[in-house]
Amino acid sequence: MGKSNISAADKEQLIEGAEAATKKAYAPYSKFRVGSALLTTEGDIFLGCNVENASYGMTNCAERTAIFAAVAKGGPKLEIRAVAVMNDKDADCSPCGACRQVIYEFGPDAIVFFRKDKSWKQAHITELLPYGFRLK
Ligand code: THU
Repeated sequence: MGKSNISAADKEQLIEGAEAATKKAYAPYSKFRVGSALLTTEGDIFLGCNVENASYGMTNCAERTAIFAAVAKGGPKLEIRAVAVMNDKDADCSPCGACRQVIYEFGPDAIVFFRKDKSWKQAHITELLPYGFRLK
């Protein structure tokens, strides 16, 4: 694991981005609007929201939306330094298992900020996903 300290300014930008993204959510079924922001090792920020579907299982979480947006814009060399996720209910919400694996793919040293007990918690991706899967 490399250095993974996130500055207060970067954390603030991630939180602001995640909050803005929450407002874009398409969540007519759960009414649980989720926003995410990620910071790349190049210093760029990408946002994502959850996008639900009448066929519920097709739903895409906010975190994966942000990651896919980053790849679509910047290409396959994406390296994630940090990710923040929040929701409009201020409910406890750490990334789901699927999103942990997708974060790990592009950020094996990523820091994840998420809401718990009405405050921001911070965890290394490998705390959330020990023994994540890699092919390379
Ligand atoms: N959801 C996310 O977008 N991210 C999470 O970390 C947890 C769950 C979404 C999926 C679904 O649209 C809604 O929250 C309720 O599960």
